[in-house]
Amino acid sequence: MRITTPENDIAEVLFTEKQIAARVEALGMALTAEYGGKKPVMVCVLKGASFFYIDLCRQMNCQIDMDFISVSSYGAEAQSSGVVRLVKDLDTNITGRHVVLVEDIIDSGLTLSYLREFFGARRPASIRTISFLDKTARHASELKTDYCGFEVPDVFVVGYGLDYASYYRNLPYIGVLKPEVYS
Ligand code: PRP
Repeated sequence: MRITTPENDIAEVLFTEKQIAARVEALGMALTAEYGGKKPVMVCVLKGASFFYIDLCRQMNCQIDMDFISVSSYGAEAQSSGVVRLVKDLDTNITGRHVVLVEDIIDSGLTLSYLREFFGARRPASIRTISFLDKTARHASELKTDYCGFEVPDVFVVGYGLDYASYYRNLPYIGVLKPEVYS
């Protein structure tokens, strides 16, 4: 029997485990400097941000609240449907709190714009965003995340939480998916 592993479908590694760990450590330090004493609510945007979120929170040396939301705009497709769907809301009341939205990737920017507006309406003390990856070339509008791990070109990236059709999230690095896998 031929065993297929996720690695077989990767054309190139963009960021190694080591590079990711170093970048996440630096981001954790920056957030600690900004949020020390503010007890921010760290919001994980499931599912893609899960690995980044956990690693980032572990690198923050201050009191934080942890909460999770789930949105979906892609389903099993390679292209965004253009409609953001809130699947799971926050459990925490964020009115008057400092909120940090943690994303894995900004592609068109639709999800981030939606979330900023949606949670901004609950009158938090502040709302800032951090995304592990940013595909700036793909943004549909003028949009900037407050913190970013790495900028990436317009290629299909998977791993470290990012999926294609629900798979590849558990790769420990960021890789470029071979086009024949999704075309
Ligand atoms: C992905 C990703 C972001 C969003 C970015 O989520 O995690 O939330 O798409 O794309 P955009 O900038 O074009 O809106 P997805 O809907 O695939 O859900 P997932 O995180 O569960 O994979």
